[in-house]
Amino acid sequence: MFVFVIMGMSTIAISLGLVYRRRSGRATTTASLKGKTVLITGASSGIGREAAKDLAQRGARVILACRNLQKASQVASDIEEATGSKSVVVMKVDTSSLASVREFAAKFLAKERRLDVLVLNAGIGGRQKKTLTSDNLELTMATNHFGHFLLTNLLLGLLKASQPSRVVVVSCMIHSNVQTLDIENLNFTKEGTYWPVQAYAQSKACNILFTRYLANLLKDYGVAVNSMCPGFVSSDIFAKSESFIAGYVYNYLAPILAKTVEQGAQTIIQLAASDENPAPTGGFYEDCRVSDNATNLVLDEGLAKKVWEASESLVGLQPEEQHY
Ligand SMILES: NC(=O)c1ccc[n+]([C@@H]2O[C@H](COP(=O)([O-])OP(=O)(O)OC[C@H]3O[C@@H](n4cnc5c(N)ncnc54)[C@H](OP(=O)(O)O)[C@@H]3O)[C@@H](O)[C@H]2O)c1
Ligand SMILES: *[C@@H]1O[C@H](CO)[C@@H](O)[C@H](O)[C@H]1NC(C)=O
Ligand SMILES: *[C@@H]1O[C@H](CO)[C@@H](O)[C@H](O)[C@H]1NC(C)=O
Repeated sequence: MFVFVIMGMSTIAISLGLVYRRRSGRATTTASLKGKTVLITGASSGIGREAAKDLAQRGARVILACRNLQKASQVASDIEEATGSKSVVVMKVDTSSLASVREFAAKFLAKERRLDVLVLNAGIGGRQKKTLTSDNLELTMATNHFGHFLLTNLLLGLLKASQPSRVVVVSCMIHSNVQTLDIENLNFTKEGTYWPVQAYAQSKACNILFTRYLANLLKDYGVAVNSMCPGFVSSDIFAKSESFIAGYVYNYLAPILAKTVEQGAQTIIQLAASDENPAPTGGFYEDCRVSDNATNLVLDEGLAKKVWEASESLVGLQPEEQHY
């Protein structure tokens, strides 16, 4: 009896996975990116690596901004081998560390002459236990939001100078878990508020709020800023997470139910490489098209402004680091 139940459930799961993967959107753009420079954070694995490969194939100079140089160098040579590109570069950044982001940006600005596409992709799931970084920021928020917030601000001058340019922010539908965003508690300082899924969801809500505010700031500067959700994707992110649900349940279900990393990268590729000019800005995308699934909370302009200002203060953004 038990065997039949298991068999039945497996059949359902496998079918759901097949349907979900079939419905996954594909990038339709055939645009070349010759002469363009693309920067992708967290390109050492998962959907970031797949997006980097596709964009290198289109002729872009692609900079893999990664925390693990050894792993990233292997990815860079794999991509060069697969695409014939000679322009895949590895640079070190730990998005959870403000000092590392500042050091990275200084090196990048000293070396690179343009930045056409910035993809903010690096991310982690919430840790089981609340962890503080060396900057005293909560680790999930620091990795997924604060580091990217600072990085984008530091590179804003070059993005504007390279117009028409683009920023693609990798968010997630799980942002809908956030019912209220307490602006005084972005760092989870209030007792009893930290919860791994909540930390992840809040960081992904902040990704969209940040996107909306930045898109507005830059709308007259030829920089298109959009956020997206890749869908449920079978990557290493679950295995790396120590939380029970992500580390066990999702990690085992993903290969059956989720998209491949190549499918997960499609919306990034479309937003990075579509030949629309001017490109639409301020949108939230799923499956390579505009999605109406972003919640009212992350579409609230007043809240976006508050998150921006609180983030400026938490990363200690200096007057000389403001380029808007
Ligand atoms: N998989 C999904 O179902 C799903 C769904 C919605 C959204 N997303 C988002 O998609 C993005 C990519 O995730 P993925 O699924 O491709 O997972 P992944 O394979 O684990 O890739 C995450 C990437 O981020 C890097 N990273 C993590 N912390 C970093 C740090 N402090 N500094 C620099 N790089 C760091 C990782 O580096 P290492 O290689 O060194 O670990 C890796 O390259 C994330 O933003 C995630 O939130 C994923
Ligand atoms: C973040 O929260 C912790 C307490 O959980 C606190 O010690 C730290 O100072 C806070 N960081 C900032 C920048 O406010
Ligand atoms: C909104 O989410 C639903 C459920 O995940 C999905 O079926 C639908 O395609 C999404 N809408 C858009 C426009 O992406």
